[in-house]
Amino acid sequence: MRVIIEEDYGAMSRRAAAIVAAMIRDKPALVLGLATGGTPIGLYSELIHRNREEGLAFSRVTTFNLDEYYGLPPQHEQSYGHFMRKHLFDHINVPEGNIHLPDGTVVDVDAFCRQYERMIDEAGGVDLQVLGIGADGHIGFNEPGSSLASRTRLVALGTRTIKDNARFFQSNDQAVPRAAITMGVGTILEARTCLLLASGTNKAGVVAQAIEGPITSQVTASALQLHPHTIAILDQRAASLLRRKDEYVRSETLLRELRAGGPG
Ligand code: GLP
Repeated sequence: MRVIIEEDYGAMSRRAAAIVAAMIRDKPALVLGLATGGTPIGLYSELIHRNREEGLAFSRVTTFNLDEYYGLPPQHEQSYGHFMRKHLFDHINVPEGNIHLPDGTVVDVDAFCRQYERMIDEAGGVDLQVLGIGADGHIGFNEPGSSLASRTRLVALGTRTIKDNARFFQSNDQAVPRAAITMGVGTILEARTCLLLASGTNKAGVVAQAIEGPITSQVTASALQLHPHTIAILDQRAASLLRRKDEYVRSETLLRELRAGGPG
């Protein structure tokens, strides 16, 4: 895994945006996997800025979101559909028809999940998947114990996740949905590149487990160690418990020099 350590949240967000923008410029019809949560909001603001100020075009981009609460319609203020419109889609030129999120209102969930996977396949697969990490190490809503080969499905949320996400809901955690539809770990691992973002001291422990710990279904982000092209962009605080932190910094600097100047 390539590990990039930036000074703070702003620098992490700008670095991530630079990677996403370069990939869109390289392939304007990019299939972009998107995440919710507080972490990618800075990345999304940077992309909006680049769309407005630098002409970064989303007109041919297709998006697939990782997950959605089960039971919330897309108009609900706390739905991930609403979150994505508010923080990204309403401000860039991505065509409505190119946007995909799991539908939290479907009755036949299993049929819907199979169809979501089919739509990803028909779009040619996800080129770049943006990921955050939950406090319990989850990616998407793949809670501890999720099979590392899991596919898109209905899942029950862990008590820790319900508590963590309660901050986005006005009332107490009673209002937080107990279930969600999420891409599986196996689905995520099929993306051609994964971009894992983490910021803040409260993520430091779980980031160290995901990047340097054993690959285990108890920390589903650790499955990214099996992925050939994962880039983790962390701020200093989230990177603070990595044992090999200095090595990652050294390696990034050396590789940058070599790419710029060749082996001589
Ligand atoms: C939710 C989302 C995850 C996200 C996680 C972390 O559980 N399903 O995709 O990574 O929250 O959120 P935050 O970035 O706010 O810490």
